Amino acid sequence: MNDNTAVISEIKRLLGDRQRLAYVRSFGCQLNVSDGEKIKGLLRKMGFGFTDDESEADLIMLNTCAVRENAEDRVFGIVGSMKKLKEQRPELMIGIAGCMTAQSHIAEKIKKSYPQVDFVLGTSAINGLPKLLLECLRGARFSADIAEYDDFSATAEQVRESTFKASVPIMFGCNNFCTYCIVPYVRGRERSRRPEDIISEVEGLVRDGYKEIMLLGQNVNSYGNDLGGEMSFPKLLRRLNEIEGDFWIRFMSSHPKDASAGLIDAIFDCEKVAKHLHLPVQSGSDDVLRRMNRRYTAEKYFGIVDEIRRRDPDFSLTTDIIVGFPDETNEDFEATLDIMERVRYDNIYSFIYSKRTGTKAAEMPDGVPEEEKGQRMRRLLALQRDISTEHYKRFIGKRMRVLADDVSKKREGFLAGKSSEFIIVEFEGDSSLIGQFVEVEVTGAMNWAVTGEIVK
Ligand code: SAH
Ligand code: SF4
Ligand code: F3S
Repeated sequence: MNDNTAVISEIKRLLGDRQRLAYVRSFGCQLNVSDGEKIKGLLRKMGFGFTDDESEADLIMLNTCAVRENAEDRVFGIVGSMKKLKEQRPELMIGIAGCMTAQSHIAEKIKKSYPQVDFVLGTSAINGLPKLLLECLRGARFSADIAEYDDFSATAEQVRESTFKASVPIMFGCNNFCTYCIVPYVRGRERSRRPEDIISEVEGLVRDGYKEIMLLGQNVNSYGNDLGGEMSFPKLLRRLNEIEGDFWIRFMSSHPKDASAGLIDAIFDCEKVAKHLHLPVQSGSDDVLRRMNRRYTAEKYFGIVDEIRRRDPDFSLTTDIIVGFPDETNEDFEATLDIMERVRYDNIYSFIYSKRTGTKAAEMPDGVPEEEKGQRMRRLLALQRDISTEHYKRFIGKRMRVLADDVSKKREGFLAGKSSEFIIVEFEGDSSLIGQFVEVEVTGAMNWAVTGEIVK
């Protein structure tokens, strides 16, 4: 653990009495958002307040994602537009954190072409932030810290975005090397947090009134593999389920190759675990799955789905799908549509394949024109809209437990929340209910949500 106390007091001295403001923006997955909360935690210790307006910020930090090219392009666009801000206010500090920084060609590009950037902070080096800021305040033009500190030491410092929903990373990194994916390169190998740390963090959150605990990892099903067999993910779920209080537990993501009978048993045995599983399938074609290095077949995937549906036919499933993997044939794509019809997901998150430098798939020939990929994507989205509308009807007349999230953006006097099944529910209600559980009877279904009335 690196102790920042001395560095932080020196920063406070240099910054003086005026309240300094930081603009921190996270892109990408919830793990990255959680890192952003840790960055904010450290900044708060240094005396910073926070703003959503870049033009009044003394420090701008972009916590970036590298999973697809458009995510990177967006960040480069934003950094480009900050050149003006920096010219107007040379004392403004700009830092780039997150997954993009772990690719050496990107770090080089930032250094060379974006002189407005003062420093780069690596994904495992969040605790190095005070040191970088200090160098920057002392006049260093460009500094970088991509050292390997431990990931966990900043946990206690989080500034959480929500007062009722909390993300809790249970592991970092990924060992799977799916051939399209950059994550194992930018996040390193799997490291599981110690169960006692996770348990005490969740206990504290529940004491503070948090209603939703989202356990995070790139593949939570391999949680504990590096802890010498003392803990597994199903065991962890059972242990967290014993914590007293009115809250529910969600988790993300589950790799189908490691979704065991023990996991399914734990989901059904634990009353606090939400009745929803996000199980990314990526493709319905065995050939594509093999070339993606996913290590399961469509049949093996159905086996898991069948077992879940045997126990609860209404159980909610969501997935991730990649359209247009290198040389994906029409038959491969049809197999993906088949799997969607057969599983009947409540929701899907679909992406057009994006080539990532350094991955295996980037070396594969790809004869599929972009236009064809776009057409496939539109077909897939249209099919899912029909499935959702039809499938959501199974809830009409039934009751759902809903965590009220916010006021509805579409209808005056309505609230929006997510049910245990991870389905958006809209219902009439007072904003004082936000952050509370309510019982809703479902009266209607749309293609993106259900509507209902509060019964309790
Ligand atoms: N660890 C999680 C996924 C993290 S990335 C899991 O395995 O489920 C989230 C999603 O982004 C992936 O499931 C995949 O569908 C998509 N994705 C990852 N790399 C991609 C790429 N190069 N192009 C397009 N989509 C990609
Ligand atoms: Fe990427 Fe595959 Fe790891 Fe998920 S499991 S983060 S898709 S390599
Ligand atoms: Fe993106 Fe990094 Fe997450 S690449 S999806 S922010 S782990």
